[in-house]
Amino acid sequence: MIVETVSEKSVLAALDLACCAPSVHNSQPWLWRLGPGVIHLYSDPRRWLTATDPDARDLVLSCGAVLHHLTVALVATEIGSVVHRLPNRAEPDHLAAVELMPGTSTATDLELAAAISRRRTDRRRFADWPQPAGHLDLLTRAAAGQGALLRAVTEPTQRRLLAAAIDYAAVEQDSTPGYPTEIGLWSGGRAAACGVPAANVPRSGNDAMVLPMRRWADGDLVQRRSGEDGATILVLGTSSDDRLSQLRAGEACSAVLLAATGLGLASSVLSQPLEIPATRRLVRDGVLGGTLCPQLVIRVGWPPAGAPPLPATPRRPVSELLRPTSE
Ligand SMILES: Cc1cc2nc3c(=O)[nH]c(=O)nc-3n(C[C@H](O)[C@H](O)[C@H](O)COP(=O)(O)O)c2cc1C
Repeated sequence: MIVETVSEKSVLAALDLACCAPSVHNSQPWLWRLGPGVIHLYSDPRRWLTATDPDARDLVLSCGAVLHHLTVALVATEIGSVVHRLPNRAEPDHLAAVELMPGTSTATDLELAAAISRRRTDRRRFADWPQPAGHLDLLTRAAAGQGALLRAVTEPTQRRLLAAAIDYAAVEQDSTPGYPTEIGLWSGGRAAACGVPAANVPRSGNDAMVLPMRRWADGDLVQRRSGEDGATILVLGTSSDDRLSQLRAGEACSAVLLAATGLGLASSVLSQPLEIPATRRLVRDGVLGGTLCPQLVIRVGWPPAGAPPLPATPRRPVSELLRPTSE
C-alpha cells in the first residue's frame, strides 16, 4: 500500500500506462520513486541526448508528457492526484511530486486514458480531407487546460518559414559533433527497448511532406504512392521559457495528442527547429508574432487512407524505472 486506500498494484498499472508517453527519440528519460501517498518523477540524465538537445528542453518536455499521461492513467483507475511541480530547488532532476488520493472517474476520463494505448507518432503524409473547425477548438482547449497556447500555422509564408527553419536546423545538427551518432544509436533499431524503430519511419523520407521530418536512420514504413500531406500544422507556445514552462508544455503536448487520438486523428511532434536558438527565435518572431515562446511543433490530420495502423514503439519495463526509496 502506498496510501491506505490506494494499492501499489493500481499505481504500478497506472505507471505502466503512463510510460506509453511520447519522448524525444523514444529515449524515455524518466525515473519514478514511490513514497507514502506520493509518486515522484525525476528526469534521467543518463538518457539526455546532449547533441540533439543541448539545453535539455526535449528532456523536460518528454517528462512533462509522461507526467500528464500519469495523471490521466491514475484518474482512470479512480486515483485522484495533486501535482507539485519542481518541488525541490536543490534537486533539479526532481520534476514533480504527485500526491495521491482516492478519486472517481467519468466516461470522458476513461476515453482519454483509452487513447494512451492507441496514440502513435505518425510520420506519414496525412489524408487531405477537411477537419471540422470544432476539432481545432478542442485541441486548443486541451492545451489551454495545461497553461499553454496552440496556434495553427495556416499562412503559406509562415509555413514556408517553419519549413526553412527545420531545413536550417537539420543542416546545423548534421555538422554538430555527436548528432549523427545519436541518430544512429536511437533510430533504425529493430529489437531495442527504446529508440525510434525502423517500422515507424517512412521509407520515402520527406516526399510531399508539408514540413520536412527529422532524418532518421533508414525506415521500413511504406507510404501510399501519391498525394500531398494534408497535415494541419500547430505550434505549442508558452509565455515564458523556463523549466516550469517546458514541463507544462510537455503536459500540454500530451493533452493535445491524446485529445487528437480521441477524435480519430493521427499526429506527430517535431522539435528540431526549436533545439537550436537561432531557429527557435525565427519561429518565435516569424510564426508566433514574437509574443510566445515556441515549445513544440505538432502535426495533426486524418490518417493516410487505407494505410495499415502503426505498430506501438517499445518501452522499458516500469521495474527498470523505479529509484530505490532510500535514494
Ligand atoms: C519532446 C519531444 C520531441 C520530439 N521530437 C520529434 C522530432 O523532432 N521528430 C519526430 O519524428 N518525432 C519526434 N518526437 C516523437 C518521438 O520520436 C516519439 O514519441 C517516440 O519515438 C515514441 O514513439 P510513439 O510516440 O509512437 O510512442 C518527439 C517527441 C517528444 C516528446
